[in-house]
Amino acid sequence: MSGIEGKVIAVTGASSGIGEATALSLAEGGAKVVLGARREARLEKLAARIAAAGGQAAYLPTDVTRRADLAALVDLARDRFGRLDVLVGNAGIGPISPLDSLCVEDWEAMVDVNIKGFLYGIAAALPVFREQASGHFVTVVSTSGLRIVPNQSVYAGTKNAVRTICEGLRQEAGPNLRVTVVSPGYVRTEFADHIHDEHVLSQIGDSMDAIAIPPESIAAAIAFAIEQPAAVDVGDIVVRPTAQS
Ligand SMILES: NC(=O)c1ccc[n+]([C@@H]2O[C@H](COP(=O)([O-])OP(=O)(O)OC[C@H]3O[C@@H](n4cnc5c(N)ncnc54)[C@H](OP(=O)(O)O)[C@@H]3O)[C@@H](O)[C@H]2O)c1
Repeated sequence: MSGIEGKVIAVTGASSGIGEATALSLAEGGAKVVLGARREARLEKLAARIAAAGGQAAYLPTDVTRRADLAALVDLARDRFGRLDVLVGNAGIGPISPLDSLCVEDWEAMVDVNIKGFLYGIAAALPVFREQASGHFVTVVSTSGLRIVPNQSVYAGTKNAVRTICEGLRQEAGPNLRVTVVSPGYVRTEFADHIHDEHVLSQIGDSMDAIAIPPESIAAAIAFAIEQPAAVDVGDIVVRPTAQS
């Protein structure tokens, strides 16, 4: 199967930003989308918007820090649409701060959402992909992991852990499964709303205001990877603002 039309695609973190834009774009391309995130009202609204435009969407309140929630999201895809072709692992948080601030709860949250949440997606989807002898993991990491800068070490560490696991997954995946990582730079979303450190927030906010690109730019890169023929595995895509250093 190639293209986007007819594919069953689950998206985590679909309630805002990159996940929302990706779900909309894939649904417009004819995919049956399965939306997961914690804010149910947002998912309901998005699913209704997709249905009103003639698309197909199902949704389930999903907290990626709970393994059972990811299993239920994949079950929903199979119950409603008969299979799962792609898991877009997009849910992520970045409450960044200097290490000296010892924001240990934020470190733990980033590990739980960005790393463990991603792993629970593998645990839920990999057996299904094996059974189908086809499937595609598309995972959103970050340019934070490519150019390490102060205040972002824990966030970058979580994203690079995921990058590393994806490369191992790709090598173990065999000839039928595809594994793509997408590294966005500054993207205009709600991402910065979760930064608690006032100084870091104002720095990131300034950069966002000056150069951030729209989430649709990342959605287009994700769609590009998905729409390739099954024998073509797009491994790594970096999409950053032209003005980003
Ligand atoms: N914006 C950027 O500049 C940028 C740059 C590089 C990488 N990224 C990555 O892009 C991805 C999407 O972020 P975004 O920029 O679109 O920010 P966003 O608008 O804040 O979206 C984050 C999404 O993740 C979901 N999420 C957070 N915690 C979750 C949890 N425990 N369980 C399920 N879903 C959860 C949120 O939904 P709920 O709150 O409803 O659960 C939301 O849908 C993240 O992985 C982020 O690290 C962003």
